[in-house]
Amino acid sequence: MDLFDAIINRRTTNTAFADKKVTKEHTDLLIKMSSHCPSHFNSQPWGFILVEDETVIKGIAKIAGDSMTQLMDDGRFWKQYRKYFRFSEEETEQSGDGIHLDHLPAYLKPFAKSIFSEAGGKIISRFRVSKILGGDEEKLVATSPLLFVILLTKDEYKKEELSGFYSVISMGAVIQTLWLVTTAIGMGMQFISTPGEIPGNWKKISEMLKVPEDYEMMAIFRMGYIDPKVKRPVIDWTSSQRKSISELAFRNKFGNHIEEK
Ligand SMILES: Cc1cc2nc3c(=O)[nH]c(=O)nc-3n(C[C@H](O)[C@H](O)[C@H](O)COP(=O)(O)O)c2cc1C
Repeated sequence: MDLFDAIINRRTTNTAFADKKVTKEHTDLLIKMSSHCPSHFNSQPWGFILVEDETVIKGIAKIAGDSMTQLMDDGRFWKQYRKYFRFSEEETEQSGDGIHLDHLPAYLKPFAKSIFSEAGGKIISRFRVSKILGGDEEKLVATSPLLFVILLTKDEYKKEELSGFYSVISMGAVIQTLWLVTTAIGMGMQFISTPGEIPGNWKKISEMLKVPEDYEMMAIFRMGYIDPKVKRPVIDWTSSQRKSISELAFRNKFGNHIEEK
């Protein structure tokens, strides 16, 4: 797959992966390609843990599912991320950003928008929305053949220092490289970020993986081979739309919009 195709076709995988182990050839490839990412003074501040042990994956899945349910139940998720949700093609095309909740069970469709309103809490508990999303999250993670965990060494990742900012930039390069490589070899990946929204749960996972004191656990991804036949989760979204060139870029100074040809 050529590079530009990989960039355009790269997508977050919201569905389950094929029931197939990731080959050693591919896990080595993911690590090798990541090691070629840029870092300040070539400091390579990363560490990677590849979790393939089903018991550990199931343990992390439970925490991820519980985190999703808790975030939904206490309403934090809706309040914090309401601005990113889109409910129609028109809204999605118009904004060119956000995530389009285009897959909802029929009984929830009439309430889609109000779920995100102040009154949303009642609807969420009446239709057990948080349990559905939490249950799906746990299943998606538990059935993933590989979890790819990114660490940063605290020698470089000092939050109050420039090296901390630089380390995060180089981690971003690793994440995009992983995403392009997985796309090019027929794999997919998805962030598992809900545990990160509940500090106690993130710490639990970090301890399960024996992350030492001098490293910080920064990001967890579920990975596997794409199975085009797999069913979408009960509540699902798409987010392939992007802002236009003229919205994003200016020539010579801010405000001089660059027009698309
Ligand atoms: C910092 C960060 C956190 C994210 N967390 C999640 C997540 O918890 N679950 C998820 O499905 N996608 C997550 N994503 C992926 C974004 O939702 C996705 O990149 C965006 O909607 C664009 O869709 P695409 O990746 O398919 O192009 C995250 C992305 C970033 C950069």
